[in-house]
Amino acid sequence: MTTTEPTPTTDAAPESVSGAEIVFDRVTKSYSSQGRPAVDSLSLTIPAGQIVMFVGPSGCGKTTSLKMINRLHEPTSGTITINGKDVRGQDPDDLRRQVGYVIQGGSLFPHMTVAQNIGLVPGLLRWDKQRIAERVEELLDLVGLDPVRYRDRFPRELSGGQQQRVGVARGLAADPPVILMDEPFGAVDPITRQRLQDELMSIQSELKKTIVCVTHDIDEAIKLGDRILILQEHAQIAQYDTPEAILSAPANEFVEDFVGSGSALKALSLTRVEEVELTEWTTATVGEPVGPVLERARAARQKSVVVLDQRRRPVDWVNIKALTGETVPAPVDEARDLHQIDHRATLNDALDTMLVSAYAGVIVTGRRDQYVGVATFEAVTALITARNEAARQAQEDADEQ
Ligand SMILES: Nc1ncnc2c1ncn2[C@@H]1O[C@H](COP(=O)(O)OP(=O)(O)O)[C@@H](O)[C@H]1O
Ligand SMILES: [Mg+2]
Repeated sequence: MTTTEPTPTTDAAPESVSGAEIVFDRVTKSYSSQGRPAVDSLSLTIPAGQIVMFVGPSGCGKTTSLKMINRLHEPTSGTITINGKDVRGQDPDDLRRQVGYVIQGGSLFPHMTVAQNIGLVPGLLRWDKQRIAERVEELLDLVGLDPVRYRDRFPRELSGGQQQRVGVARGLAADPPVILMDEPFGAVDPITRQRLQDELMSIQSELKKTIVCVTHDIDEAIKLGDRILILQEHAQIAQYDTPEAILSAPANEFVEDFVGSGSALKALSLTRVEEVELTEWTTATVGEPVGPVLERARAARQKSVVVLDQRRRPVDWVNIKALTGETVPAPVDEARDLHQIDHRATLNDALDTMLVSAYAGVIVTGRRDQYVGVATFEAVTALITARNEAARQAQEDADEQ
């Protein structure tokens, strides 16, 4: 007889999956005794550690399906399990520990500070004060807000995008394996929206949660989803697949219409900036003597330098003519938009950002917003041309058969 060795565990936390599998088994929700149920016998497996996007027309049952996972709604029949355990058998505290919830606008409590909002669930779970304070710091850092500056502010003192970041931090507070998001970025402007999406992807690459996210925006679904669930009325599954499969092989006319025309253009949403050949731009650190910086820029034949802070996060992008002092200055206007994007942003995002940038390029950042390089307009268009050529070739080959 052989014994099974326990699976070795490693300390490499970022690589491990902390999410949980969610299974819907013939889940039905009727709001009234008449008519067809809002959700009619939905069966679905959401794999651990993935982002699954729920999309579909208004009223098709996305929010209802989501809210049954954390028991804000109870199914009329059928079961939902998280890691094999029926959610209906669990006490509310356990469920809160397991399932974070993020909705549009962050829905922060106006009379509570940022720190109090984020610490809400840990407080309910009776964590001690010190641990909550540390967690708040860590999460503000993770969602890109300086803890010292923001923890004691009230929601009304924040922009829409900042409030949404705090909402995400609150959803993550008790380190739940599952996060539910309902149109989380619906209320912010397009550039902030793109930033928040990038931020979410970056967080997910570190934490590997199971994220179920409702959106009405197919482009957002393509960008963020490992898988996309396209629903029709009464939560009937039109297609449940990877973004690539949905774009290249829509299951039926409904999906085709929903995904919309211009699939070639949509494919730009599938290509990540990390696939672009980045240019090594000259960098300088705030406080560094200017002389050597100018020398490096001249040697590289570049007329501008990317300025980084002590943690290698870009804070400015300046023309060398502006470097007239002894040392590299901190940026004058901290809030100025730097036109930087995450390496997991899409080529669509890169092109959008370049349109409003002073330079024909965008600064690309990686983990924890650290500088990686510059994606130039030429490099992005070269990649698009290569992709289009490959697609044309593949189409020709298919036509010949
Ligand atoms: N609390 C409720 N009471 C009665 N009907 C509801 C309630 N919530 C949603 N519905 C109905 O259920 C259907 C699905 O709604 P919902 O899940 O909110 O759809 P979606 O999020 O896809 O827009 C709609 O017909 C809606 O009118
Ligand atoms: Mg909804």
